[in-house]
Amino acid sequence: MSGKELDGVVAIVTGGSRGIGLAISTALAEAGAKVALVARNAERASAAAADLPGRGHQSYSCDVADPAQVSETVKSVEDALGPVGVLVNNAGITRDNILIRMKDEEFDEVIAANLKGAFNFTRSVTRGMMKRREGVILNITSVVGLTGNAGQANYAASKAGLVGLTKSVAKELASRGVRCNAVAPGFIRTDMTDALSEDQVEALKGQIPLGSLGEPEDIAEVVRFLVGPGARYITGQVLAVDGGMVM
Ligand code: NAI
Repeated sequence: MSGKELDGVVAIVTGGSRGIGLAISTALAEAGAKVALVARNAERASAAAADLPGRGHQSYSCDVADPAQVSETVKSVEDALGPVGVLVNNAGITRDNILIRMKDEEFDEVIAANLKGAFNFTRSVTRGMMKRREGVILNITSVVGLTGNAGQANYAASKAGLVGLTKSVAKELASRGVRCNAVAPGFIRTDMTDALSEDQVEALKGQIPLGSLGEPEDIAEVVRFLVGPGARYITGQVLAVDGGMVM
């Protein structure tokens, strides 16, 4: 026993092989959790899990948008690591386009990965959490789910949907000892934002009161707090971690 706040807790992190998900996996591993790192690419997931601090982590290849794969993954996690105490729904994609050019596939894929994916995992872990009368679910939404964003109707709708999912799950499961919150990152340096040009980054900084983009670790530290015992009286909340963009 290491005496850390998540000692021995099994934590699923979706999209855990890079970016914000990798930072969250690392922070939860540092807090003592056994991380079940989920990503689509098996090799990248396995390499990322092997590099996490501490021991007992596992990787799983799974498309979060596929309900059958998700329930099988949760079963495999429980068989290998034990009951799931923490679920972080982090996997997400963008398929940006202006509304009149947005294809059905672009809308549907984003909703399937970002919103349905979180629903799939949440439903699969919920029965066990309710039975044990403990568990924490944390959804990674986005500030654009709160404000909307031109050119991201699909993505903003999926992230706004996650806010509704978070609050509904929080209300439905509170009496069973299960908490559910969301973190809404602003602009964070990852592969997702690497596509922005220097000019776009400079323009963005002008909209951020704290004056810079965030780092994946800025999100991971907040997630570590919200899934841990220090946040035991917090549920149904959406916390923006965005350098003050949305107040
Ligand atoms: P990223 O593109 O670097 O990583 C996303 C991860 O999700 C990857 O590991 C990818 O393989 C995984 N993933 C995507 N679709 C999946 C699927 N169907 N099944 C399984 N895994 C899947 O992105 P980043 O920046 O690390 O984003 C992580 C989360 O944070 C996403 O939900 C994103 O929407 C959100 N976010 C990111 C912001 C940013 O500025 N980077 C801002 C606001 C929210």
